Amino acid sequence: AVERTFSMIKPEGVRRGLVGAILARLEQKGYRIVALKMLRLTPEMAAAHYAEHRGKPFYQDLINHITSGPVVAMVLEGPGVIAGLRRLMGATNPQEAAPGTIRGDFALETSDNVIHGADSPASAEREIALYFTPAELG
Ligand code: CMP
Repeated sequence: AVERTFSMIKPEGVRRGLVGAILARLEQKGYRIVALKMLRLTPEMAAAHYAEHRGKPFYQDLINHITSGPVVAMVLEGPGVIAGLRRLMGATNPQEAAPGTIRGDFALETSDNVIHGADSPASAEREIALYFTPAELG
């Protein structure tokens, strides 16, 4: 089924100049960019985004990191895009991500894995609403 998902190029991806390369892969796969914006997350937005990780040992590092610079947030659309984006990104730990995946090709550390993607239909819906208004999702 045609789905929508949420993805974000993290601060290290922006800092390293990987925005174009990453967007190119997503578009080349055939996914449609429905909405796209660059923004710097406030601590409040970061806490909302990573609510499910609250209390984990890496939580504060995660918040500090994701607010350390601008990110590129987007909504992608396509058949099976929720699971498909996760396959395109590769494993959370880039050292385990297969070559050919975004993390496999562009990253080495879990804390700097350059891209985020919603992990389920429920997460996709929640995260899209966190970053985009209905008017921006034309
Ligand atoms: P992301 O897909 O954005 O979702 C949660 C993030 O936590 C994950 O990518 C990693 O960047 C980050 N993270 C940092 N340390 C860990 C860890 N030990 N286990 C899982 N995720 C971690």
